[in-house]
Amino acid sequence: MEPIDPGAVVRIVLRLVHALSAAIWLGAGAYLVFALLPLRRGSTAVGDVVRASQQQFRRWWVGSSALLLGSGVALMFDRLADGRGTATYVGLLVIKVGAGVVALAASGGLLPRPAANRVDTPSGFRLSGRAVLVLGALAYLLGVLLSVIYPPDPTAGWR
Ligand code: HEM
Repeated sequence: MEPIDPGAVVRIVLRLVHALSAAIWLGAGAYLVFALLPLRRGSTAVGDVVRASQQQFRRWWVGSSALLLGSGVALMFDRLADGRGTATYVGLLVIKVGAGVVALAASGGLLPRPAANRVDTPSGFRLSGRAVLVLGALAYLLGVLLSVIYPPDPTAGWR
């Protein structure tokens, strides 16, 4: 039996972590923006429920954002280090990482604001929920596209 290459195992774990946290981040964000947040226009009671559900979700949102960023940075260095990236690959990767970083940086706007901050004082970097989702979806699609058209070195994978 061939020995197990620890580098290949780490690569597989990183991709799985990145893909799973991307699904949680994007799916939950879409549900929040399209299903929950519009309900705030209804009664105060409904608004309170929406706010409570945002609070409940906060740790998942922060956790999936941290995992996306951490695994993404590691994947980026790993993919660039193999030296096989064409100019098109690097160009698409720059767009993908840029969209992902801006989406993550602006996504705090989807979380409930602290009571003291409820009046419209500008705080942090905010985009509309839809803009955050569009950038996140772009990062998602470009990630899948890159891994399909420039598959990782098969000799570095689990065999
Ligand atoms: C909203 C944020 C993000 C989403 C939704 C997202 C989503 C994805 C998805 C679905 C993949 C494909 C996984 C696979 O097939 O193996 C991927 C790949 C990747 N992502 Fe992200 N990502 C995000 C942010 C980031 C960030 C911030 C970075 C870097 C700092 C990053 C770096 C990468 C890299 C390097 C790949 C591998 C591309 C390749 O195969 O060549 N991602 N991403």
